[in-house]
Amino acid sequence: MKKISSMLAALLVATGLQAQTHTFDINTSKVGGVIPSTMYGIFFEDINYAADGGLYGELLINRSFEFPNNFAGWDISGKVTLRNDGPFEKNPHYVRLAPSGHSDKYTMIENRGFFGIGVKGGAEYRFSVWARVPDGGTAKLWIDLVDNATMSDDQKLCNGSVEVSGKEWKKYTAILTPKKTFENAHLRVWADSKKTADVEHVSLFPVDTYKGHENGMRKDLAEALEQLKPGVFRFPGGCIVEGTDLATRYQWKNTVGPVENRPLNENRWHYTFTHRYFPDYYQSYGLGFFEYFQLSEEIGAEPLPVLSVGLSCEFQNGSKRSDAHVPVDQLQPYIDDVLDLIEFANGDPAKNSWAKLRADMGHPAPFNLKYVGIGNEQWGEIYPENLKPFVEQVRAKYPNIKIIGTSGPDSEGKEFDYLWPEMRKIGADLVDEHFYRNEDWFLGTPEAKAKYGNCGANRYDSYPRGKKQPKVFAGEYACHGKGKKWNHFNAALMEAAFMTGLERNADIVEMATYAPLFAHVDGWQWRPDAIWYDNLRSFNSCSYYVQQLYSLNKGTNMLSLTMNKKAVAGNEDQDGLFASAVFDKNTNEVIVKVVNAGDKAQPVTLNLKGMKGDHSAQLISFHSDNLTAENTLDDPKKIVPQESSLTVSAPSFNAEVPARTFYIYKIKK
Ligand code: AHR
Repeated sequence: MKKISSMLAALLVATGLQAQTHTFDINTSKVGGVIPSTMYGIFFEDINYAADGGLYGELLINRSFEFPNNFAGWDISGKVTLRNDGPFEKNPHYVRLAPSGHSDKYTMIENRGFFGIGVKGGAEYRFSVWARVPDGGTAKLWIDLVDNATMSDDQKLCNGSVEVSGKEWKKYTAILTPKKTFENAHLRVWADSKKTADVEHVSLFPVDTYKGHENGMRKDLAEALEQLKPGVFRFPGGCIVEGTDLATRYQWKNTVGPVENRPLNENRWHYTFTHRYFPDYYQSYGLGFFEYFQLSEEIGAEPLPVLSVGLSCEFQNGSKRSDAHVPVDQLQPYIDDVLDLIEFANGDPAKNSWAKLRADMGHPAPFNLKYVGIGNEQWGEIYPENLKPFVEQVRAKYPNIKIIGTSGPDSEGKEFDYLWPEMRKIGADLVDEHFYRNEDWFLGTPEAKAKYGNCGANRYDSYPRGKKQPKVFAGEYACHGKGKKWNHFNAALMEAAFMTGLERNADIVEMATYAPLFAHVDGWQWRPDAIWYDNLRSFNSCSYYVQQLYSLNKGTNMLSLTMNKKAVAGNEDQDGLFASAVFDKNTNEVIVKVVNAGDKAQPVTLNLKGMKGDHSAQLISFHSDNLTAENTLDDPKKIVPQESSLTVSAPSFNAEVPARTFYIYKIKK
C-alpha cells in the first residue's frame, strides 16, 4: 500500500497535480478528557412501524379487537360477534365464535398481520389466546398459518389446535411450525366443535425472540441494536411523547403490567403517511416501559426515558391552543408521572408500589436510571414555565437524576436562541438539540454558515464550557440530502465528517443519537432511517455503519489534534478533510478518524507526537464510488466497512485518504 501511494505521489508530481499534504498533529503523550460512555447512543421512536410491526415481536395486528374499527386487520366469516365485557378492563372487547350448525359453513377469523405475517420454515411460533366456553364444557379451536397466495392444498403452512374448557377465561397456547418460509402469511382461528367459544388477545410470537422473552423483541432487529454497542437508549420518542393531542400523548403507566390490560393508543404518526391510507397505526403498548428498560440493560445502554411536559405536539397545535397544553397549576399528575417513573426504575419494591410492579414483572433489581428527558421539541415561553416545577420536584427528591431539557425543533434560530439561556437558568443538566439538515450544514460550508450560522464539525468548538454549563445531547440528527432524502452513502459520509466535531468536543457533548432508528419498507413515513426491514429480512443503512464505527471506536480519552496547525473545521483550505483522535486505555490504541468529504484523494501526514518506531495498526475504510448507492434488502452488505492491517511508522506517517472516504486508523501504542 505504501509502495502504491509513493508511486501515485511521483505520478502526481510529474503531472503537476500533486495536492498539498495536510499534516495532522496528534499529541499521543498527553491524554485528554474522558469520552463519556454515553457518547454514541440510539433513539427509538414508534414511527415507520418501528414498534408494533417492527421491533416488538408480536406478529398479529389488533390482537385485542380494540382498534376503532374493531375488526381492522381481521377477516371474519360465519357466526362471529363482537362483545365488550371481556376479562381485561382496559381492553374490554373480544369475539364470540359460534358454530354455524351447518357442516359446510364455518366460523372463522383471519388476521393479516402487519403487511402480512413473516414466518420462517422450521422455526417455532407461539400462538396464544385467552378463551372460555360461555355455556361450559369444552370447545376446540383450530389454528392455521396459511400462505393465502397459493390456491391449492399446499396453502397450509402449519396448523395446531387448543381445547378450551370451562366458563372461566384462561390462556391457551400452541406451538406452530411452518413448513416453509413465507413473508405474507395469515393466521386463521376456526371454531372447530359444536360449542361456542369466546376469544380475546389472540397473539403470535416467534419463540426465538431476542434473549428468549415471551413478550419479546424481533431478534434480528434487537441484535442490530446490540451490535451498535450504544451508550445510551432514548425512548419512546420524539413527537410520540407529546401526542397529536394531550389525549394521545405517550403515558408510560399504561404500558406496564400485564400486556393484555395495556390500553391501545393512537399513534402520533397515524395520519402522516403520504402514500397510504392510515386505518391501522396504533400502539398496543406491548413494547412498554418495562421492556424498554430491560432492553437498555440487555444491550448495555443507559436508559433515557422522555416524558411529557404537558404540551402536545407543537407542530400540530402551536404553543397557544389552550386544549393543547396543561396550565402550570394543573401539572401535578404529569410531574407525578416523572417521580413515579424514577421509583418504577430505581425504587425499593418493599417501599413503593411502582417499584413493586417492576419486581412483579420480573426485575426486582433497580434499572439504575440516571437520566430523564422532560419534553421533546417544545418551544415558546410556555416550555420553561412548565418545565420549572418538574425540575424543582425532581431535584428535591432525586438530586442525582440528570434532567434533559430541549432547545426546540431546530439547530438555530429564534426558539433555539431563546431556549438555551432558559435551560441554563432552569439548571438543566443537558440540552437536547435536533438537526435534520442538508449536506452543506453537516460540512459547515460558507453557504450553510451564512444561512444557518453555527453548523458543521466545529459547531461545538465555541460552546461555553464550565461546571455550571449544561452539556449537549444531540438527540436527533441525520443528513437529509438536498433532493436525496434517503439513506445513500453520501449522507452517511456527511454525518461521519460532522461527528469528528462531536468527538473533538466530547468534553461538552455527552451524548448523540442518530434518528430515526427503524423503518418498515412497507410502512414508513420518514426517511432516512438507520435500520430497514420487511417481515423477514433487515439491513443496516450506511448511516448505521457510521454510527457503529464511531461507537465501537470511541476510545476512552480525547487526544488533541490540529490540521496544518489549525483547528479542523472543514474550511476551504482544508480540502474537505475532517479529523479527530482519541486514545483507548483498554486496548492501548491511538484511534485517528479522518474523513475526506471531497472529490480528490488527499495526501496526509499523521504526526504522532510521543510515539516512535513501527507500530502495528488496523485501517478501517468506509467508502463507495457511487455517492447515491445504498444498502437494500436484496443487497444488504453492498457498502460496509472494510478492515486491513498495516504498519505505522511513528512519529511521522504518510498516507493518502481516497476521495469520499471515512478512514479509521487504530494504532497500537
Ligand atoms: O424523528 C422523527 C421526529 O422528528 C421526532 O418525532 C421529532 O422529535 C422530530 O421532529
